[in-house]
Amino acid sequence: MSATGPGRTPFIAGNWKMNKTVSEAEEFIAALLPRVSSVQGVDVAVCPPYLDLQAMVDSTRGSRVQVYAQNMHHAAEGAFTGEVSAPMLTELGVHGVILGHSERRELFGETDRALQLKVPAALAAGLVPILCVGETEEEREAGDTERKLRHQVQEGLAKVDSGRLGDVVIAYEPIWAIGSGRVATPEQAQEALGFIRALVADRSREQAQRTRVLYGGSVKAENAGELLALPDVDGALVGGASLDPAGFAAIVDAATPA
Ligand code: PGA
Repeated sequence: MSATGPGRTPFIAGNWKMNKTVSEAEEFIAALLPRVSSVQGVDVAVCPPYLDLQAMVDSTRGSRVQVYAQNMHHAAEGAFTGEVSAPMLTELGVHGVILGHSERRELFGETDRALQLKVPAALAAGLVPILCVGETEEEREAGDTERKLRHQVQEGLAKVDSGRLGDVVIAYEPIWAIGSGRVATPEQAQEALGFIRALVADRSREQAQRTRVLYGGSVKAENAGELLALPDVDGALVGGASLDPAGFAAIVDAATPA
């Protein structure tokens, strides 16, 4: 049962990372759609690798499941070998895009400076950005969690017009909780998400009430209910547990308003 704030629709997004070929994705979606078809009041998204996007847009047409990409370049086109732009995604019918996932930051050199351009570029193209932020274990132990979150949120939103802040989804993903099985405690999650909403409120109190803030990091069917019931948790960004249709559908159920 979700306790999302007034006017904020709970949102469950499955980040497949580099998993599932097109045929595996087709098999997954055929198993997922009947499991979520009767769900009301929850936004559901799958975030497959680029090569699966077209097939997933086609297979989810007319359903409640939206399709998001996992990254994009800020420019609309140009000499950027290996990159994909927002217009390429929107033409396919992709709804949004994950930006600044910690794996992109750590393994592929994604910077806050690049995200300053990517977030408004996504909005301008009509994509819903999911901006990911979160601290390492060392940063948490050193008492640096808020400093890190403040930096990442302020930088990522720096070039977003105040009136559009509420269109950006922010995912709090403590890096020590990603893929580790070590989910944040409800207290840790609520504290960080409340802090993130307060950072948005520093720019616009009104927009902060619209902003959906997600928790990510070892979310599973078994722990989703407790996390989603927290006042500032508007949903979840799910990695490993989103690869299985039954497990993912159970998390969607946990987000369904009573
Ligand atoms: P996880 O990944 O659910 O496997 O911990 C979450 C994420 O990286 O988005």
